[in-house]
Amino acid sequence: MAGEGGSSVAVRSGGGRGIVISDNWPGYSLDLFTYPQHYYGDLEYVLIPHGIIVDRTERLAKDIMQDIGDNDIVVLCVLKGGYKFCADLVEHIKNLSRNSERFISMKVDFVRLKSYHVDTLFFWTSDLMQTPQENDQSMQDMQIMGADDLSKLTGKNVLIVEDIVGTGRTMKVLLNNIEKYKPKMIKVASLLVKRTSRPDGYRPDYYGFEIPDLFVVGYALDYNEHFRDLNHICVINDHGKAKYRV
Ligand code: IMP
Ligand code: MG
Repeated sequence: MAGEGGSSVAVRSGGGRGIVISDNWPGYSLDLFTYPQHYYGDLEYVLIPHGIIVDRTERLAKDIMQDIGDNDIVVLCVLKGGYKFCADLVEHIKNLSRNSERFISMKVDFVRLKSYHVDTLFFWTSDLMQTPQENDQSMQDMQIMGADDLSKLTGKNVLIVEDIVGTGRTMKVLLNNIEKYKPKMIKVASLLVKRTSRPDGYRPDYYGFEIPDLFVVGYALDYNEHFRDLNHICVINDHGKAKYRV
């Protein structure tokens, strides 16, 4: 783990691009860690071990506290992939709040965007990457489900918590919808940001890691609903893709 553009990983002070995992980072051998037996043979390597995710999340919690501590916030967790990151982030914010002079009062709510679960991998690689306009069919097909009533976000400080920003299209749709209800503030925290070739790529306010343009699973990120029960963030192999293809 060294300088950016160098061997593998770089950390910039004050957040910046988060922990940058470069394209030539070989990852960690699966043999160095434990993971569920039912995934033996389905993964290529560990991209981010669970412990590093947790440690980085703690720092994001600190950054969030520094910026928006002393406010009441509504944490809006984007299901299903965001649930692990959201739970850990909220836990860290709670601990920091308890042990400091700054208090943050949190409500937690959940939304789900419908079109994810058709076939995430194909959706991500084909549809989204190749549709140039924002008002295209795939945008309109994305429906927000689950939040009791988005109008209760009016005047509130909202922290959206998401697992991964790829093209940024999903986040833009969600933001457009939430902005209609005129919250006082909206911040976005995403565990991962994928380096895509899109120049207009959306960048969240807080994020843990910038990763290569790879399909990743684990820590609640899925491939057709599988791998959410894997703690580490891993790269799936061809065998895994074939096994869980729908
Ligand atoms: P975007 O609209 O391209 O930014 O994609 C965002 C959504 O697609 C995420 O919230 C995920 O649900 C899904 N997604 C994108 N890349 C991956 C991946 O590598 N693994 C699992 N899900 C992904
Ligand atoms: Mg997601």
